[in-house]
Amino acid sequence: MDFHFGRRSFLGLAAGASASVAGAALLGRSAPMASGPSRVRSSGGRLEMDLVAAETAVTIANAPRMALTYNGLLPGPLLEAEPGDAVRIRLHNRLNRPTNLHYHGLHISPSGNADNVFLSVAPGASQTYDFSLPADHPAGTFYYHPHRHGSVADQVFGGLGGVLIVRGALDRIPEVQAAQEQVVFLKDLPGDGDFGSMGMGMMLGREGAVLTVNGQVNPALSIPAGGLLRLRIVNGSNARFWRLALEDHPFNLIATDGGALETPVQLDELLLAPGERAEVLVRGDQQGGRYRLLNLPYARGSGGMMGGMGRSRGMGMGMGMGRGMGMGRGSAQQGPVPVATLAYEGSVATLPLPERLLPVVPLPEPVRTRRFLLNHGMAPGMGMVFLINGRAYEHGRIDTRVQLGDTEEWELVNDGVMDHPFHVHVNPFQVISRNGTPESYRAWKDVVLVRAGETVRIRTRFDDFTGLTVYHCHILDHEELGMMGTLEIAA
Ligand code: C2O
Ligand code: CU
Ligand code: CU
Repeated sequence: MDFHFGRRSFLGLAAGASASVAGAALLGRSAPMASGPSRVRSSGGRLEMDLVAAETAVTIANAPRMALTYNGLLPGPLLEAEPGDAVRIRLHNRLNRPTNLHYHGLHISPSGNADNVFLSVAPGASQTYDFSLPADHPAGTFYYHPHRHGSVADQVFGGLGGVLIVRGALDRIPEVQAAQEQVVFLKDLPGDGDFGSMGMGMMLGREGAVLTVNGQVNPALSIPAGGLLRLRIVNGSNARFWRLALEDHPFNLIATDGGALETPVQLDELLLAPGERAEVLVRGDQQGGRYRLLNLPYARGSGGMMGGMGRSRGMGMGMGMGRGMGMGRGSAQQGPVPVATLAYEGSVATLPLPERLLPVVPLPEPVRTRRFLLNHGMAPGMGMVFLINGRAYEHGRIDTRVQLGDTEEWELVNDGVMDHPFHVHVNPFQVISRNGTPESYRAWKDVVLVRAGETVRIRTRFDDFTGLTVYHCHILDHEELGMMGTLEIAA
């Protein structure tokens, strides 16, 4: 069955009734759009669809509320493509602020109508995105979300985002293929009164009180006894780090942001910063019953700010910022919170874990090393700014010029008091070391957590595509407050 969502069906669906329309009527708002299919697969080498960004009614934990959605869905429709596919997505902006689309993690062109984050789609306007996935694009779990500087954090916090799967070699490994597959899209939504709130909370990075998995509060997930469950996990939050643990079931990590590992790595818990993805296999080797997927607390460096000025190193972490001013909202989680419940359902012949996955070829020696210093400060008239090498983002300024085909090593130094997950567009990287300690396994990443006080070295090669793109902190509030730079990849 084919789920194409072409222009004609898109217009046809607009008149149809749906849960979201009913919900909107309940709230006394006009319904912008009925929902479309929740899953769209490419066929015949093409993926073509419409995405309508709008504020719509959704139902969360049996209560209607407003959220920013794609096609009325939260998360947005699940897109599935294959290497070599031609993708055409028509984005329609029915929001009241400009937006655009970014295909986080895909190795595609950053120019023209492809993964160009400098495009701006005005309210009421539409934009067609056109790109091809390279024939050798790795299989993996990717993430589409808005990227219009100035409104990205609000729009992601408000609900926008969705998952894009590229199916390929990893999916053909027999044990992986035999696993039952489940997408786990993580997003915290603002609680009542938090919606669209700006200001002080942005400096820490706003976290919402409502923890959702696939747009639901504590949904049921199932695993067959004896079988394998493959979770494709995406952190689609604005700022919240998710630290997951599944009762009595370790995670067997098989893929990171950019695709497969060489062999599975067993983990008791999994930490994902915003923008990070992981694929894990869970073995159905328990005696049935129910097991909670827990989100464990994580302090991402806000404690220093909350506790006083002692750790601020004179960077102007100033006066009057503390409890009672909305700063603490981000760090409110004290203990484990159940975010989904795993139940045994049916059984299959016992499946082993795969022993080998796919090669992760090491990159050659770098031709150049650069240093990126991450911290924050106060700017006259702007208040708190977040900086890379002492500068806040400026549209049109090129901060880093690199050469197509070059391998570089980037030293990411965080000498501030808050963690910063550093993200680079277009080309994935390998983490070489953290505070001088070599990484224990090779993996392709596009977001790496640089904790307060850490130095992380990454290595990347600028392959296939020239043009302008960006790197930034994926706490999107920090990105908005300046922690982004423009990268030029020259021929
Ligand atoms: Cu997830 Cu610059 O993006
Ligand atoms: Cu990205
Ligand atoms: Cu940051």
